[in-house]
Amino acid sequence: MHAVGIVAAAGSGLRLGADRPKALVSLGGRALVCWAVDALRAGGVSDIVVAVPADEHAAFATVLPLDVRLVAGGETRTASVRAALRATTEPGRPAADVVLVHDAARPLTPPAVVARVLAALTAGARAVVPVLPVVDTTVVVDDDGMITDAVPRGPLRRVQTPQGFDRACLVAAYDALDDPTVDATPFTDDAAVIRAAGIPVTTVEGHERAGKITVAHDLAVAELQVRS
Ligand code: CTP
Ligand code: MG
Repeated sequence: MHAVGIVAAAGSGLRLGADRPKALVSLGGRALVCWAVDALRAGGVSDIVVAVPADEHAAFATVLPLDVRLVAGGETRTASVRAALRATTEPGRPAADVVLVHDAARPLTPPAVVARVLAALTAGARAVVPVLPVVDTTVVVDDDGMITDAVPRGPLRRVQTPQGFDRACLVAAYDALDDPTVDATPFTDDAAVIRAAGIPVTTVEGHERAGKITVAHDLAVAELQVRS
């Protein structure tokens, strides 16, 4: 089973508000995207494609290992993942049986999480995501900020990456988005795309260290983690 890792790194990082694309922001002296690539490799995925902002190719090539392939990402994460997916079947390279799609914005993902996702795919799952329980009380509010309902949190989970898929299933699920009657707006991750195609998604245990860096506070916490 040949696994290819896709790292979505083509976002701009508006909410972080740094002076460069988020994936190039430094954590412990190394770009976030380098940490994300290392996490995949340490977890058992060596063949890696990174989707980067089209006009930042040179900057990413400077910081990443030579054997990582770079492709131009798109306007949305969905478009970036699709661009990287196309590179998983290049002539002359081993075709991917499975793909693990990871966010550059989750730099400290433990290798054990990657290994759990790979193991589930090896055991036959067509789609697998790492998840964690929701620990806060969770409510629904109306437009005025008034609580209208409490959500039982027992069955709720927070979804992380890397998310693993049978490659052919993921390609077919993304191709189905080309249907003009499909609204892709609600699809914030790859598991949502594959569920819309009717494919069951299994879960494995995630990890707090796989949390996403979205705002400056998240980066400050990650800095503390790499120093400890
Ligand atoms: N991503 C991508 N292509 C895009 C948008 C996002 O590859 N067009 C990637 C980001 O680089 C990131 C991951 O998807 O690693 C998760 O997205 P998010 O945390 O939202 O990152 P940004 O879109 O860069 O940040 P923001 O939404 O704050 O602008
Ligand atoms: Mg974004």
